[in-house]
Amino acid sequence: MNFTDLVPVVRILFSKEGLVTAKALLNIDNIEGLRKVGYDLSDDECITILPGDDKADLVALLKEQVKSNTKAVVFDGLGAVVKGKKVDNPNPYNPVEGRIVIVTGGAQGFGGGIAEELYAKGAHVVVADLNHEVGRGLVEKLKSSKQMNKAVFIPVNVGDSDSVKSMIETTVLELGGLDVIISNAGILRAGGLDEMDPDTFDLMTKVNYAGYFYCAKHASKVMKLQSQVDENHYMDIIQINSKSGLKGSNRNFAYAGGKFGGIGLTQSFALELMPNRIKVNSICPGNFFDGPLWSDPEKGLFVQYLNAGKVPGAKTIEDVQAHYEKQVPAGRGCRVADVAKAIVYVINQEYETGQAVPVTGGQEMLN
Ligand SMILES: NC(=O)c1ccc[n+]([C@@H]2O[C@H](COP(=O)([O-])OP(=O)(O)OC[C@H]3O[C@@H](n4cnc5c(N)ncnc54)[C@H](O)[C@@H]3O)[C@@H](O)[C@H]2O)c1
Repeated sequence: MNFTDLVPVVRILFSKEGLVTAKALLNIDNIEGLRKVGYDLSDDECITILPGDDKADLVALLKEQVKSNTKAVVFDGLGAVVKGKKVDNPNPYNPVEGRIVIVTGGAQGFGGGIAEELYAKGAHVVVADLNHEVGRGLVEKLKSSKQMNKAVFIPVNVGDSDSVKSMIETTVLELGGLDVIISNAGILRAGGLDEMDPDTFDLMTKVNYAGYFYCAKHASKVMKLQSQVDENHYMDIIQINSKSGLKGSNRNFAYAGGKFGGIGLTQSFALELMPNRIKVNSICPGNFFDGPLWSDPEKGLFVQYLNAGKVPGAKTIEDVQAHYEKQVPAGRGCRVADVAKAIVYVINQEYETGQAVPVTGGQEMLN
């Protein structure tokens, strides 16, 4: 068993009295080393393990040796894992408090809003995105609230399996494990069959469809390790899908096709992972009119549709927006808070998996 595989096991054992984070220190392998870098530990707060080859034996040994007063585990020759503090929010209990959550595409739009909402509820949040500048800016904003829970930026390109693997490993080393991954990063390039070129189709498929597979593949590895040490610990893989994953979308097939496929992945991953108490669900929001995709003053879909004359009779951006809002029974676009409520629901609900949860104001209904 390598060190990165041991860290999430130790963190769950540290969490017997409530979820905590854990920090991995790669180059420290004795208590003196920990003391030198500022961890003030007594001898009985630190245990030392000599890792052998037998994975089952090592997990059993850890289960036996990690006690409620253990603050660090040193793996001889490999590194150390140090216990973090329990989040002690003034908020009443909520199901995301203390959980380690990755949000891909977390720098802006739905992802940025989800990161903010979950952080405010006491989750430790990894903002993972291609856009380093905006992602780091959001993390600084979260940290400025001075809450106890952690916020970290980790760069990722979800269209690259190695990059997703490295995002997961960095999360484990920085925070100790992973309880929820929200596969949110997505791109939209509209176009009918005459306009869509194969390279654009391939890019959208890579980010929107394969990106979700890469996230589930690498995240589930850590979650499975955690599931062997606590049979009450439920974890979540959540895909931000779309109403376009429930119904075809005219001249937007590359997007709708990837989102439909995402629901096939969700149902299949759910069957595979429920024995490990990993739930897998998609959330299918309606149009997020307030987000950059629609409202960006230069590149947003409202401006594009106005300029292209897509909405007959529309003279202003407001006319275009009103045209789309009228198609929603609830009379407005989907908001971050609507999606965040669905996320909290699926995390809280232990008896449901493999679902596509619509959050569309009634615009799409399941049959
Ligand atoms: N905007 C909507 O109306 C709407 C509606 C339903 C569903 N969705 C879905 O919500 C999700 C977020 O959409 P949004 O509108 O907030 O998008 P957005 O364009 O506002 O933000 C997307 C974020 O993802 C990041 N990103 C893009 N490609 C990436 C990659 N390869 N690796 C890592 N990060 C990457 C971007 O940098 C950006 O920060 C998408 O999956 C989208 O399909 C959006």
